[in-house]
Amino acid sequence: MAKLVIHADQVQNKINKEIYGHFSEHLGRCIYEGLYVGEDSPIENVNGMRTDVVEALKEIRVPVLRWPGGCFADEYHWKDGIGPKENRKKMINTHWGGVVEDNSFGTHEFFELCRQLGCETYVNGNVGSGTVQEMSEWVEYITFEGVSPMADLRAKNGHEAPWKLDYFGVGNESWGCGGNMNPEHYANEYRRYQTYVRDYHSDSKINKICCGPNVDDYEWTRQVLATCFRRNNDNQHGFMNGLSLHYYTIPGDDWNHKGSATDFDEKEYYKTLNKAYYMEELVQKHGSIMDEFDPEKIVSLTVDEWGTWYDVEPGTKPGFLYQQNTMRDALVAGLTLNIFNKHSDRVKMANIAQMVNVLQSVILTDGAQMVKTPTWYVFRMYRDHQDAQLVESSIEAMPIGLEAEYSVPNLTESASVDADGVLHITVTNLSLDEAYEVETEITGKEVTEICGEILTGAMADKNTFEEPEAVKMAAFDGAQRTENGLKFTIPACSVVHLAVK
Ligand code: AHR
Repeated sequence: MAKLVIHADQVQNKINKEIYGHFSEHLGRCIYEGLYVGEDSPIENVNGMRTDVVEALKEIRVPVLRWPGGCFADEYHWKDGIGPKENRKKMINTHWGGVVEDNSFGTHEFFELCRQLGCETYVNGNVGSGTVQEMSEWVEYITFEGVSPMADLRAKNGHEAPWKLDYFGVGNESWGCGGNMNPEHYANEYRRYQTYVRDYHSDSKINKICCGPNVDDYEWTRQVLATCFRRNNDNQHGFMNGLSLHYYTIPGDDWNHKGSATDFDEKEYYKTLNKAYYMEELVQKHGSIMDEFDPEKIVSLTVDEWGTWYDVEPGTKPGFLYQQNTMRDALVAGLTLNIFNKHSDRVKMANIAQMVNVLQSVILTDGAQMVKTPTWYVFRMYRDHQDAQLVESSIEAMPIGLEAEYSVPNLTESASVDADGVLHITVTNLSLDEAYEVETEITGKEVTEICGEILTGAMADKNTFEEPEAVKMAAFDGAQRTENGLKFTIPACSVVHLAVK
């Protein structure tokens, strides 16, 4: 038996919906084929965006989308992707597979995709190989209303009105593919570049994201904040609204042996979850450095790339990073989103890598076919946490696993109360063989009705084009009211969502 305690009246803070954000890069078949097929495609589309994929993404309420990279962002020159498509420059995507990039998906297409998804926009600018002028003109092109060279060019290209730009990333992985800079150098470049990411109108506020650390590079966090964090009496954030963190869960011990997405044993299952759970330590440690500079938590720790990274699916292009997705990935997503919820005082945005056909995708496509992955179902089950109020909760967990070095907590959880007063509880059971009875004490709320849903299966269960619904969410009616709250038994290898009225 495990005890879960929830104080429904002890509100901590809002869980920003952007924690459930996504990332899409010009990489493999994410943008081309996965999201964008072009207007002339036989695959049903609206203005080139595939209808089946857009509909599936709307179901999980994608709150924000980051684009165009990733490493691609620091090689991307936005002017190549505007104007008549037949005149757009072709280039080689040197970073990802050496394929021809015809620039048919550019700024106008990105904002059209976000319009269809009904989500916020997060554009990542080019610091590594771009200029301040290029970056500042992109912001002007997107947001300027009135007479200006870039606003005129936008209108000439068919979009008179400016778009709403919610987030702008000033470089990506500037410590690596984005220019191999050291923290002092990047921090000074950041100060300069961000100056020209202007808010042209009082009602258009661009949140600036500064390139943060790779995994556990705490020195990067400290040095960049020392140079770039400033309080500002007007807008309270000075030079930045967010500092990014990138962390991928890689079960293997090196980049050449990352491990298979589908063919793994129990040891590797627990090792993967143990590595995913490392996110807790990263968020805490980077967060406490941020606290030294920014105790009011004005700046967000923006985990704008996270997820599993395995060896590519056999027979697919190495540079395309296409991988299958199993129940193991669902548990990685479930535990990670519980961590983000619990740290949502500091983590205000996160973007899973990547949306379609690349790394830990929520959707896979093959020609006209599409499947929702186990990870998609977790985003579907957790969607009610978006913009809800995190409430105080804790669970009695114990370490499990086959090797002490790679143990994980058997159970993880988070709880929130939405605008209608409904309490949402999400719990993961990482054990492969034990079900647990969870005795749940709830204070500050009476339990009148419980609705549940569950995602469960064997660790390597997956959805394929032949069997697209082998793993899917089901109704869960195993929770019963008790004198102090409720109780339920969570099966092994499961994610459960309870909505308590
Ligand atoms: O998501 C794949 C790559 O991982 C991104 O392009 C880069 O930012 C990171 O290293």
